[in-house]
Amino acid sequence: MSRSDTKNASFVPPLRTLMGPGPSDVHPRVLAAMARPTIGHLDPAFIDMMDDLKGLLQYAFQTQNELTVPVSAPGSAGMEMCFVNLVEPGDEVVVCRNGVFGERMRENVERIGAVPVMVHDEWGTAVDPQKLEDALKAHPQAKVVAFVHAETSTGAKSDVKTLAEIAHRHDCVTIVDAVTSLGGIPLKVDEWQADAVYSGSQKCLSCTPGLSPVTFNERAVAKLKARQHKVQSWFLDLNLVMGYWGGQTKRAYHHTAPINPLYGLHESLVMLKEEGLENAWQRHARHYEVLRAGIEAMGMSFYVQPDQRLPQLNVVTIPEGVDEAQVRQRLLSEFDLEIGAGLGQLAGRVWRIGQMGYSSNMKNIMFCLSALESVLSDMKAAINPGAATQAALRQVG
Ligand SMILES: Cc1ncc(COP(=O)(O)O)c(C=O)c1O
Repeated sequence: MSRSDTKNASFVPPLRTLMGPGPSDVHPRVLAAMARPTIGHLDPAFIDMMDDLKGLLQYAFQTQNELTVPVSAPGSAGMEMCFVNLVEPGDEVVVCRNGVFGERMRENVERIGAVPVMVHDEWGTAVDPQKLEDALKAHPQAKVVAFVHAETSTGAKSDVKTLAEIAHRHDCVTIVDAVTSLGGIPLKVDEWQADAVYSGSQKCLSCTPGLSPVTFNERAVAKLKARQHKVQSWFLDLNLVMGYWGGQTKRAYHHTAPINPLYGLHESLVMLKEEGLENAWQRHARHYEVLRAGIEAMGMSFYVQPDQRLPQLNVVTIPEGVDEAQVRQRLLSEFDLEIGAGLGQLAGRVWRIGQMGYSSNMKNIMFCLSALESVLSDMKAAINPGAATQAALRQVG
C-alpha cells in the first residue's frame, strides 16, 4: 500500500503476523469486543465491567491487592505512575539496569529530582542479586529498588522473588516492570511480595497497545500515604485515580476512561482465565522449545543463556555477513511477518522474535521458521537449509 492510497481514505492496515517484541497479534474476540457500542464511563453497566476487570487483573497478577487498575495509557505510563507515586525529590533509588528499560527507570528517577543508584549488569543477563545486596549495603538511605522482570531489549528474565526479599531486608519498596512477563511466564505478585508492579496490554495479554495494568500492595500504599510532597503528575496521581477506579463508594470523574480499549482488555483477560494462567505459561514454554529447535537447527544461536531466557521473547544472533534489516524488510513485504530488530547496544547484532499471547501458537512458529529459512537461504546466508521445520516438528514429538 503506498501513501497515496491512504490519503484522505479509510485506513485498512495490511494483515500481518506479529512476532516482534510487541504488540502481539490481537485475538478476533478482543477486536470484536472493542467494536461494541461506546457507553458512558460512569454508566452503571460500565462500572460493573470495571469491577469484573479489576478481579480479572488480580487473577492475572496473582494478587489480592485492592489497588489493582489499568492505567489509561501505555506501559511507559505504568512505569511513570509507579515512580511518581513512590519516589520523592531527594530519595535514593536503586535501579538495576540490564537493558533499555532499566535505563528508562533511571530517567524517571532523575526527572523526579531523586537520586538513582545504578546497579549494572551485562545486557542479556539477569539482574545479579549479590550486586543489589552490595548496593543496598553501600546506600543504607535507599528507599526504593526498581528492576525489570522480563527485559524486552535483551530477552533476559530476572528473579523477582529473590530481588524483592533483598530489597525488603533493607527496608525498601520494590517497583517491578512486568510489561513483557504478565501472562507469559510465572509472575506471582503476592507470593513474591512484589510491591508496585506495572505491565502492558499489548504483549502476552494480546490486547491492543495503550493500557497499563498496575498493582500496589499495602507496603506500596503505605509509602504513598506517607509522602511529604504532592505527586508531581496530576494525571498519574493514584490518590486521584482511585477516586474513579477505587472503592465501594461513589465514583468521581477523573478522566474519560478509554471505554472501548477497556472492553478489549476485559475480553483478553476473560480469555486468559478461560485458558488458565498456568496453561498460558506452559503454552509459551512449549512453543519456545519448538522455535528454539528450529533456530538452532538452522545454525543460529540465542543471546541469553538457557536458564535466564524468556520463552516469549527470543533474542537470536544473526548469521555472518547477513544484512539483518534487509531480512526483516523481506519478511514483512513478502510474508507479512514482523520480527523485531535489536534495541540499544544490540541494534544490528540480533533479532528479537516474540511469541506472545495469541501469537504463541504452532502455526505462527512454523510459519516464522520457514519464512526466515526461505529468506536466509535466498540471500545465501551461512545456515543449514531445510533443517529448521523438521527439527521443530521433532520437538513437538
Ligand atoms: C520491559 C518494558 N517496559 C516498558 C515498556 C514500555 O511500554 P509501552 O511501549 O507500552 O509504553 C516496554 C515496551 O516494550 C517494555 O518492553
